[in-house]
Amino acid sequence: MTLVDTVRTAATAVPILEVLAERWSPRAFDPRGEVEDAAIDRALEAARWTPSANNSQPWRFVVARRGSPTFHLVHGSLAGVNRTWADKAAVLVVSIAEVADADGRPRPWSHYDLGQSVAYLTAQVHHDGLHAHQMAGFDTEALRAALSLPPRLDPVTVVAVGPLGDADALPEPLRERERAPRQRRAVTDLVLHRDPA
Ligand SMILES: Cc1cc2nc3c(=O)[nH]c(=O)nc-3n(C[C@H](O)[C@H](O)[C@H](O)COP(=O)(O)O)c2cc1C
Repeated sequence: MTLVDTVRTAATAVPILEVLAERWSPRAFDPRGEVEDAAIDRALEAARWTPSANNSQPWRFVVARRGSPTFHLVHGSLAGVNRTWADKAAVLVVSIAEVADADGRPRPWSHYDLGQSVAYLTAQVHHDGLHAHQMAGFDTEALRAALSLPPRLDPVTVVAVGPLGDADALPEPLRERERAPRQRRAVTDLVLHRDPA
C-alpha cells in the first residue's frame, strides 16, 4: 500500500503558507474513508467567507455522500476517466455559480467568485487532513437535469473530497500520474510586468 502524500508537497521557490504548499489533487481516495459532518461544516464555512463582487456570494453547493442517491446522480454525470476513481471519494461536492440574480440580472463575476470559494473550501479541507480534487470533466446538462437546477444556476465543477487512499489501487496510467512530479511554470512566465523594489 502506498500513500504518496508526503512527496507531493510543492517545491516552492520561496516559502508560502503550508496548507497551500501541501494541497494537491489525488485520485486515490480511501473507499472506506468517511468525512465527519463537522469537517463539511468547516469547508462550507471557509467558502462562505470568500470575497465576492459586491458581496453577491454567488456560490452554491450540493454535498453528496458516497452511497446516497444524490452521490449516484453526481457520479453518473462524470466523464469516463473521472468516474473510475471518483466513486471512492467520501463526498462529491458540486460547485454551482449563480450566474443571474432572482430578477434575471447577470452576475458577470459569478464564475470568478465561485472559483475563489472553491479555493477556500479546498484549503480548509486540506488543513483538516482530508484531500480534494476538482473536476470539470462531467456532463453539465445531465447534471443540471439530475439536480433540477434552473438556468441561472450553472454547475461548474465537481469536487471529490475524502481521506487519501492507496495509490497502488489505481489503474495505470493513473497510478503513474499519482506519483509524477508536480510542475508549475516559473513566476517569471506569469508576470507580464513587475516594478523593481
Ligand atoms: C477547474 C478545474 C478542472 C479540473 N478538471 C479535472 C478533471 O476533470 N479530472 C481530473 O482528474 N482533474 C481535474 N482537475 C485537476 C487538475 O488537473 C489539477 O489541479 C492540476 O493538474 C494541478 O495538480 P494539483 O492540484 O495536484 O496541484 C481540474 C482542476 C480544476 C481547477
